[in-house]
Amino acid sequence: MKMKAVVAHELNRFSVEEVTLDPPKAGEVLVKMKATGICHSDLSVINGTIPVPFPMVLGHEGAGIVEALGPGVTNVKPGDHVTLSFVPNCGDCYHCLRSEPYLCLRSTPDGKMMDGTTRVHMDGKDINVMQFLGNMAEYAVVPAMCLVKIDADIDLKAAALVGCGVTTGVGAALKTAQVKPGSTVAVFGAGGVGLSIIQGARIAGAARIFAVDLSDEKLALAKELGATDTINGANDPLKRIMELTGGIGVDYGFEAIGIPAVVDQAQKATRRGGTMTVVGVGKLSQKLEFNALMFPLMAKTIKGSMYGSAEFRVDFPKYLELYKQGKLDLDRMVTHIYSIDEAVQAFADLEAGKNARGVIVYD
Ligand code: CU
Ligand code: ZN
Repeated sequence: MKMKAVVAHELNRFSVEEVTLDPPKAGEVLVKMKATGICHSDLSVINGTIPVPFPMVLGHEGAGIVEALGPGVTNVKPGDHVTLSFVPNCGDCYHCLRSEPYLCLRSTPDGKMMDGTTRVHMDGKDINVMQFLGNMAEYAVVPAMCLVKIDADIDLKAAALVGCGVTTGVGAALKTAQVKPGSTVAVFGAGGVGLSIIQGARIAGAARIFAVDLSDEKLALAKELGATDTINGANDPLKRIMELTGGIGVDYGFEAIGIPAVVDQAQKATRRGGTMTVVGVGKLSQKLEFNALMFPLMAKTIKGSMYGSAEFRVDFPKYLELYKQGKLDLDRMVTHIYSIDEAVQAFADLEAGKNARGVIVYD
C-alpha cells in the first residue's frame, strides 16, 4: 500500500514522503497509527548523535489499532488497540529469561525487520525503519513481540507517550533507582523524560523533588506535575540544592539530558551513599568522569537506565492504569498536536525547546 512517512534521507535531511509498505510477514503485524510522539531520539537520528543506516523512517513512540496479521501471530488481533515498544521481547535470550527484556539481544540498530529485510520502499529502494517500528507514518509493519494490547477506552495520544518517554522516565524512578517514600530527589532536565521522572518520584512518595532546567516554562510544568522546588539551571543549581538540603545533597539524582557537565552536576548534587541515575543519552565520543579519590569515599551508586528498566508487557498497562486513576498525568505532557504534513515544523519546535511532548495524530 501507499502511505505517508517521515523519512530521514541522510544526515540532517528529512522530509515527509509517499512510500510503499509491504504486507506483514510471519510474526509481523500491520498497525494503523493513531498517534506518534516526537522524541529527542528521533532528532538524534536526524543529526547523527545516534548513528543509523539511512534512509530510515523515523518514529519509535506510538500507539494505534491493529489492522492485519502476518502468519503465526497470536498475541493481538485486528481491532486491538496497541502501544508499540521499541525493544522486542523475544522471551528466549539471556536477558529476556532474566526479566530484563529492555536489554533483549534481538534489539539491533540496523533498521531491518527480524528476518533482515525491509517492508518499506521508495522509488524501488529499500527504506530502513527506526528500532523495528518506523511509526512516524500512517501505517507500520512491526514485529508482534513489540506490541502490547491496551484497553480500548484509553486516549491513544497518552498511550503513545508510554511507548518511550513516559516509560523511560517513570521507570527510571520506580524501577531503576527505586525511589523510596519520604526521600529527596533532584531531576536535571524537564523535557518529556525529565517530567516523567518527576512524576515517577511523586508516585513513589518522594518528599521533595527538585526540578532543574533552563526553561522557566518547563519548570512551571514540572511544578504542576510534582516538583516541590524548581531551579533555573543558569543559577548555580548545585549550590541551590546543597542549600535546600542542609549541605547534604539528595538521596536520588537523575540526569535526563545527556550532557556530561550536567551528569557531573547531578552526581555532585547526590548525597554520600545516594544513587545517581543517568537517563539522558550523550554522544558516543563523550566520556563521564568521576574523581578517583572521592568515588569510593562518597560510596555513591551510579546507574545507567535503559528504557526505564521496563518489562513493557507488564509496565505499559500498569502506567496506563495509573493514568486512568489520575495518578500519572499524560494529558498535560502533550503540549502540541501536529499532522504528519507538519513534521518538519514539529522537529523545529522540538529543537527550539517548545514542547514537553509534541504528538502527530493521523486522519
Ligand atoms: Cu524516544
Ligand atoms: Zn530477548
